[in-house]
Amino acid sequence: MDGLSRLEYRGYDSAGIAITGVEDSDGGPAGSLTVVKAVGKLTNLRAALAELEAAGGVPDSRSAIGHTRWATHGHPTVENAHPHVSMDGRLALVHNGIIENADALRTQLRAEGYEFTSETDTEVVVHLLDRAFHDPDLISWEGPLDGLEGGELARGWALVAAMITVVARLEGTFTLLALSQEVPGLIVAARRSSPLVVGRGEGENFLGSDAMAFAAHTTDAIEVGQDQIVAVTADSVTIMDREGSVLEPHHFNVDFARDRATKDGWPTFMEKEIHEQPRAIADTIADRLDSEGRLALDEVRIPESLLRGADKMIIVACGTAAYAGLVARYAIEHWCRIPVEVELAHEFRYRDPVVTEKTLVVAISQSGETMDTIMAIRHAREQGAKVIAIVNTPGSTISRESDAVLLTHAGPEIAVASTKAFTAQIAATYILGLYLAQVRGNKYVDEVQDYLEKLEKIPEKVQWVLDRAETVRQTARTMTDVDSVIYLGRHVGYPVALEGALKLKELCYIHAEGFAAGELKHGPIALIDEGQPVIVVVPTPRRPELHNKVVSNIQEVRARGARTIVVAEEGDTSVDEFADVVFRVPATPTLYMPLLSVIPLQLFACELAAAKGNDVDQPRNLAKSVTVE
Ligand code: F6R
Repeated sequence: MDGLSRLEYRGYDSAGIAITGVEDSDGGPAGSLTVVKAVGKLTNLRAALAELEAAGGVPDSRSAIGHTRWATHGHPTVENAHPHVSMDGRLALVHNGIIENADALRTQLRAEGYEFTSETDTEVVVHLLDRAFHDPDLISWEGPLDGLEGGELARGWALVAAMITVVARLEGTFTLLALSQEVPGLIVAARRSSPLVVGRGEGENFLGSDAMAFAAHTTDAIEVGQDQIVAVTADSVTIMDREGSVLEPHHFNVDFARDRATKDGWPTFMEKEIHEQPRAIADTIADRLDSEGRLALDEVRIPESLLRGADKMIIVACGTAAYAGLVARYAIEHWCRIPVEVELAHEFRYRDPVVTEKTLVVAISQSGETMDTIMAIRHAREQGAKVIAIVNTPGSTISRESDAVLLTHAGPEIAVASTKAFTAQIAATYILGLYLAQVRGNKYVDEVQDYLEKLEKIPEKVQWVLDRAETVRQTARTMTDVDSVIYLGRHVGYPVALEGALKLKELCYIHAEGFAAGELKHGPIALIDEGQPVIVVVPTPRRPELHNKVVSNIQEVRARGARTIVVAEEGDTSVDEFADVVFRVPATPTLYMPLLSVIPLQLFACELAAAKGNDVDQPRNLAKSVTVE
C-alpha cells in the first residue's frame, strides 16, 4: 500500500490489490487469491482493506500486486478497477497502457465462451493468460525461479511460458504484472513501451512503474527493457527477452527516489512547490561555468560540431512543458539565430514533420514518462535527429532514450498541476540556449556570462513576488463564482497567459482561455461582456513597442465591461487607471519575465481552488504522469 501511494500521482480514480494466500498458522485462507478494489483515491482502498483485515480476510502471503488507475477504457468503477481476475478467480493481473487489438481479441474470446465483467481492454489479457496457463500444448520454458520447488516450480514455469505466449499476441503499449494462486511465490511481468522497474532486495523483490514505489526498501534497481519479460520470486529476478532467453540484468542505483516528499507544514504540495521555485530555479542554473568562465554542460555529450551544424530546433512536449518550450523559443531564436519550432508531442509524430540529421530535437518533460513525448523522441531519432531531453526525473524513460539530458533540479513534484517544474524547465532552456549561442559563436563568452548573471538574480525576484502574494490571494477568494476567465499576453507573456489559463482549468474547473493579446480583435473580443474577468500579462515598459499595445488591449476590454486583473512590472503606473487589480512583479529582462509573471497566476489558481474546496494536489480526472498515448 505504501508503494501504491507513492505511485498515486499516476492516477487516482480507483485502485486495487490482489494477494495470494499461503498456508498459515493462524488459519487464514490458504491457496487463495484475495482481491480488494475501491473507487476513488487510495484512502478508500485502505479503508476496504482494513475492514477485510478486521474480519480476518487478509491471508498470509508471499506475493501481491496492486494498481492505481487512470481510466482509459471504461468508467472508474469497481468492475473496471484493476486487478482483473480470471473466470475461476485464481489468476490476477494489473495493466498500464492500452491494448490496441483488444476488440478483436475480445470477440474471439467471447466466441470461445469467455465472459467479461468489465469494460476494460485489460480483461482480454487475463483471459488469454489464463487460457495459455492451462493449455496442455503450452510452449515450454524452464529457467531460474529460486525458492520454488516441485509442483509450484512447474506451474511457475508454465506461468512464464503463458506470459511469453500472450505478449506475442498483444498490440499496443503495456506493463503487465500477473500472479496466480497456483504459484503464490511468483510474479510474472512484461513491458512494451510502458515503464517498469525491478527493485532487488534481500529475500524480497519489487516491481514498480517507477523506482519511487520501492525506494524505501531498496536502492538497487534493475532496468526492464522494451519487450522484456521478468519473473520475480522473493529470491530471484529473471529478466528475459520476448522468446524467453534469459538476459544479464542491468542494475542501477535509485538513491534519488528514496526520500518521500512531505508538505513541510504547507497546506498542500502545490503551495509548497510554488514556494520552492526560487530554489528550483537556482539549483537548475547553478554551477554551469567552467574554470575559464565558459558555460559547460557536461551532461550534453553531443559533439559540438553537430550542435554547430544544426539548422533547426524542434521542441516537443505536452501541456505545461510545451508552454515552457514556447517561452524557450523566444530566447533561443534571439540568442542563437536558429529557427525553433515548438510542437505538441502528440501532434509532432503524426504530421510527418521535416526532421533530418541536422535537426536538434529538445524534449521537455517533468516526469520523463509522458508517452506522447516518448513516442515523439523515438520518431525523431528514427529520422536521424539528435535529442536533448530536459527532464526532472533522473533515470526516467525519456532521459534514458535521449542522446543527452539536461536535468532540471526542481526536486520531486508531487502536486499534479505543474509549477516548480515549469519554471525550472524554462530556466534549463535558457541555459541550453546560452550554451548553444556560445558553441555556435552567436554570443561571446562575456555576453553569455552577462545573461547568466541576470538569470542568477531571478530566484530572489521570484521570492519578492511570493512575499507579496496577499493581493493575489484576496482577489482569488472573491472569484469563486466566476465561470470563465480570459488570459491575455504578448511575446513571452503569451505562453504565460496559456499556462495561467491551464492552471485555472486544472485546479478550479473554470473555463479559461489564454490568447495572444494581438489576436483579441480578430475574434475573442466578442467574448467580453459586463464583468468578464480578463487577466492581462503586461510586458515591461522598457519595451514600448510591446507594452503600449498590450495596455491598449486592456483599455479595449475594459471599454466593453471586463473586470481587468493586470500582471505588471513594479513602477509601471501606466496600467493603474485601466486595471481593477494589479499583481506586481519586479523589473527584469524581457526574456526572463515569464519566470516572474507566472508566479501570481499559479498562486491565483491555487488559492481559488482551495477557496472552492477543490482538491488542490489531485484535481479531478487528471494524472501526474500521462503514460498512455
Ligand atoms: C499541467 C501539467 C501537464 C504536464 C504534461 C506533461 O499542470 O502538469 O500539462 O505538463 O502532462 O508532463 P511531463 O512534463 O511530465 O511530460
